[in-house]
Amino acid sequence: KTVNVILSGGVGSRLWPLSRKSQPKQYLPIFEGDTLFQKTISRNSHFCDEVMVVGNCDNYELSRKDLASAGISTYVEIIEACPRNTAAAIAFAAFAAQPEDILFVTPSDHLIESGNNYQLAVDRAIQLAKDGFIVTFGLKPSRPETGFGYIEADGEEVKSFREKPNLETAEGFLKSGNFYWNSGMFCFQAGVYLEELKAFEPEVYTSSKKAFDGATEGKLDFELSMKIPSISVDYAVMENTKKIKVVPSEFAWSDMGSFESIYDHFKKQGHTVDSKGNMVIGTKLHTEFLGLKNTLLIQTADAILVLKKDNAQDVKKVFERLEKEK
Ligand code: GDD
Ligand code: MG
Repeated sequence: KTVNVILSGGVGSRLWPLSRKSQPKQYLPIFEGDTLFQKTISRNSHFCDEVMVVGNCDNYELSRKDLASAGISTYVEIIEACPRNTAAAIAFAAFAAQPEDILFVTPSDHLIESGNNYQLAVDRAIQLAKDGFIVTFGLKPSRPETGFGYIEADGEEVKSFREKPNLETAEGFLKSGNFYWNSGMFCFQAGVYLEELKAFEPEVYTSSKKAFDGATEGKLDFELSMKIPSISVDYAVMENTKKIKVVPSEFAWSDMGSFESIYDHFKKQGHTVDSKGNMVIGTKLHTEFLGLKNTLLIQTADAILVLKKDNAQDVKKVFERLEKEK
């Protein structure tokens, strides 16, 4: 069977104050009334026989609420005691599945257009996964983004996988033209993933297995979890495995990682308040911007953030400072 493994562990610190520990961005109902989590489930329900959510003790109630409103009553739930990054999160899902099950692993916080191009790409990925490959989705890069992984490819063959390069290297990748952005979604058989993880990161494999085996009712134990090295699947497996393939993809994709991508998305929908590209999120109060352009005002019940679109990456610093001051 094919299982949609939904990773829902991140906080989204670059979207403060919209996104909080108690209300991560994938649960914000700001996309035509839906959350990104709900959109992920419905986009993939067509390809998958089962849903598995890997979340944590701070957010599983929010996942349950979204699953209920999406009309999904049977699913597998894995609740982490603390975030140990994606290599371990995916390992938990693989331990919970049968070795031959196809895992379609997706983040819960991306905005993706689920048209024909998406369908073609996912169908092809599932086919390659059945043949024993670890499949990534390659998207045409439009800027030298340093927060993504890059896939050097020739057709579906992968020459190298390079997670989060520095700016100079990323610029080189764009110039060379043989590189895709890694979408952050993966497709493989559970058993194949575990074999590769065991080969390249035996400590992550062994400690994740112990934590998984020590779980009660899907809830992982804190002490056992803290022993798992924190490393992402990209560094742990994708940069090392020889079984990797890429499906060059054409679907519209946005990692809603910062206010820059939120801004671009809503701007396309005509959501600006004036001709200077200023935007308001979270309030219906009449707002005027004087002498400002491409500025966002974000209001929540207890905080206001005003920023220029170009400063979107600095929001994380505010979040971190406020966490420290707590
Ligand atoms: N359950 C669980 N536990 N989920 C987690 C954890 C964890 O410890 N850590 C992260 N996640 C979830 C996040 O919520 C997100 O949905 C997904 O896993 C990916 O984690 P990110 O932290 O958002 O990764 P990234 O954006 O830095 O990089 C990945 O995505 C890029 C595309 O958006 C990589 O795969 C890159 O190569 C890729 O380009
Ligand atoms: Mg991300």
